This record gives sequence, structure tokens and C-alpha cells, in this order.
Amino acid sequence: MPFRYPITIIVGVVEATIHGKKKLVIGKDGDQPQGRTLKDDLKFFKDTTVGNVVVVGRKTEDAIEKALGHSLCDRDTFILTRDKSYVPKERCKVLCSTHAVSIVNEISKTRDVYVIGGGQIYELFFPHVNRLLITHIDMNISDGDTFFPDIDPHDWRVKKLHCHEANGRNKYQFWIGEYTRKPRF
Ligand SMILES: NC(=O)c1ccc[n+]([C@@H]2O[C@H](COP(=O)([O-])OP(=O)(O)OC[C@H]3O[C@@H](n4cnc5c(N)ncnc54)[C@H](OP(=O)(O)O)[C@@H]3O)[C@@H](O)[C@H]2O)c1
Repeated sequence: MPFRYPITIIVGVVEATIHGKKKLVIGKDGDQPQGRTLKDDLKFFKDTTVGNVVVVGRKTEDAIEKALGHSLCDRDTFILTRDKSYVPKERCKVLCSTHAVSIVNEISKTRDVYVIGGGQIYELFFPHVNRLLITHIDMNISDGDTFFPDIDPHDWRVKKLHCHEANGRNKYQFWIGEYTRKPRF
């Protein structure tokens, strides 16, 4: 049986130099830098997450609902919020607790879990996951307001899964990498 990665972070990043420092930009003004311009990346995201559990921050969930008119279909969505009066859409559940990471860990014993952002939720889960699926997007950006945590190359092995040229389906060239955390001694 193949090794299971119970919790995976899935994210699209644009590498940029901001104030002289290399950063992985994931958001600007509430949207992703690439918007919805990479059809093959959107397909990869859907194919990977459908049928599984997704964990999402309330702000990203709001943006998804605004863009699509509904939550992500065919996935069990857990929304993180500190607002105890938050009413989720159908099929979505709310994680309000300070024990959100332990609860997600418990869920991941029986289900594959994908952490789908945004910035605050990636920060929260990054130290606890052993697998990242990162779409590296080749676009120029000089700013951004939401970032992915720094990835120390000593801690991770990287396997290229897909490379895509810019074309009619994809506005920018991109590649998708699977990062697995090296054993911690
Ligand atoms: N590039 C990508 O792949 C990607 C993917 C997803 C999102 N994004 C981008 O990321 C940006 C949004 O990220 P963000 O950091 O602003 O917001 P976010 O992580 O989506 O959501 C933040 C919200 O999550 C809740 N939250 C945070 N920590 C929590 C905890 N420990 N327990 C319970 N609830 C908690 C709070 O909700 P309440 O305020 O309701 O309490 C908080 O305001 C957007 O620009 C979006 O486009 C990019």
C-alpha cells in the first residue's frame, strides 16, 4: 500500500523580491496573483481535492463563495473562524476551536486532508504537515500582501510533477512540485 500523507498543503506561489528579500507571494487584495488564469492548475487542484476534506480560512472561503456563488463542490469543507456566530453553507463545517490543528489531525486519521489557504491558515498548519503541493507560477509581481512561509530547502525533498507552458489555457508558464519533509531526527 502506498504511503499516505494525511495532511497536505496545496498552494500557488509567485516568487518575488520585495524590499530586497525573496518572498513567496500568494495573495493581493483578497485574490490570488494569477487569478483564475491557469486552467490546468485549477484542474489539478480540483482533481486532487475532490472527494477529500479541505481546510480553509474564513477569508478565503468568503472569496471562493463570491467567485463561484457557492462553496467548493464534492469536498467536505472545514472553515476556520473565531466567530462563534458564523453560519456555514450547506456541507461545510466550522472549526472555531483553539484546538483546530489537533481536530484536523484526528480527521486525517481516516480522510485525506488538504489545507487550501489562505495565508493565516498556511502559517498555522505549515509546521505540522509533511507534504506540500506547490504550483510555481512564472509571472512578474512587485508587491503582494499575503505570503507563504519560507521553505528551507534543507528540510524538503522536491519532485517535479508537471510543467506547463503558457498557452491558450494558461496565461503563465508554471510547474507543480511535490515537497516531502525530510525525516526530523
Ligand atoms: N495562492 C494560493 O494558493 C492561495 C490559496 C488560498 C488563498 N490565497 C490568498 O490568501 C489571501 C487570504 O489569506 P488571509 O491570510 O488574509 O486569510 P485566510 O487565512 O483565508 O483567513 C483568515 C481567517 O481565518 C480565521 N482564522 C485564522 N486563524 C484561525 C485559528 N487559529 N482558529 C480559528 N480561525 C482562524 C479568522 O477568521 P475570522 O476573521 O472569521 O475569525 C481569520 O480572519 C487572499 O489574498 C487569497 O486570495 C491564496
